[in-house]
Amino acid sequence: MSVSDRPNRTILVTGAGSGIGRAAAVALAASARVRGERPRLLLVDRIEDGLSGTIEALGENAGASVTLIADLAEADSARAIAEAADRHFDGRLDVLVNNAGMLANAPLELLETDMWDRTFAVNARAAWLIARHCHPMLKAAQGCIVATASLSATQPTPPHGAYSASKAALLMLIRQAAYEWGPDGIRCNCVSPGMIHTGMSDAVYSDPAKRAERARHIPLRRIGSPEDVARVIAFLASPEAAYVTGVDIAVDGGVATGLMPTLRGASVPGGER
Ligand SMILES: NC(=O)c1ccc[n+]([C@@H]2O[C@H](COP(=O)([O-])OP(=O)(O)OC[C@H]3O[C@@H](n4cnc5c(N)ncnc54)[C@H](O)[C@@H]3O)[C@@H](O)[C@H]2O)c1
Repeated sequence: MSVSDRPNRTILVTGAGSGIGRAAAVALAASARVRGERPRLLLVDRIEDGLSGTIEALGENAGASVTLIADLAEADSARAIAEAADRHFDGRLDVLVNNAGMLANAPLELLETDMWDRTFAVNARAAWLIARHCHPMLKAAQGCIVATASLSATQPTPPHGAYSASKAALLMLIRQAAYEWGPDGIRCNCVSPGMIHTGMSDAVYSDPAKRAERARHIPLRRIGSPEDVARVIAFLASPEAAYVTGVDIAVDGGVATGLMPTLRGASVPGGER
């Protein structure tokens, strides 16, 4: 089969300009290629430079991919993104990765209302609005959604209360969509990363001492990479996951397995058992 005869695999990734979004774009394109499909991507981010880096990282898999600059805090962005997807993908969307996210760094008693609203707009509302506008294209393709939630969706994470609450909203949105859109043939799942070294967390993990301290509390004893998360996103978006919907897969080296081992010191070499 020549390259032009291959079926298209249409993929939309938000927050595609760095970290997990970039790695997901690369992994999804590579796994489409392995299945003999031709990846076509729409890469969305607020920052232009990051998107050109992702096109570079895609290499020959970039093919006919396009980029779009959009601020997901703006409600109108979702419609613009869906219209771009419709034009670029001829009305069929196989994979929507709702990945863009932001941290809100303040304890609840000091958190400003604007910051709460922006965090919810980017982390939760945008995922709903984009999915809603893309629903006809997802239905036409019998496609799927994978959203990047967080361990913080199920674990309080001081001082990021607005972040945790917004990710919990995202988690339930995706479960709700799985239930409502299952009959349309649309699968909806989440990944919940734990401690992953990306732009968002670079200030902590580029410091060797802090990195080692955090890693001590992870059963697998290392900070995760964007690729660790991207591989699970690619699995959930693949035909191998054809009967999987409404789930959240923790990609966290085992952190979510329990609080008690950490409290009792079992995660620390030589700690109490
Ligand atoms: N790094 C971690 O440890 C970790 C853990 C759990 C969940 N996550 C989630 O993973 C996702 C990806 O984050 P990452 O770790 O790769 O960080 P990152 O900072 O490398 O990537 C986030 C991307 O989202 C984009 N973005 C942020 N706000 C946006 C907006 N308003 N409009 C459009 N794009 C916007 C950024 O420009 C950036 O390219 C986020 O949803 C984050 O909450 C990360």
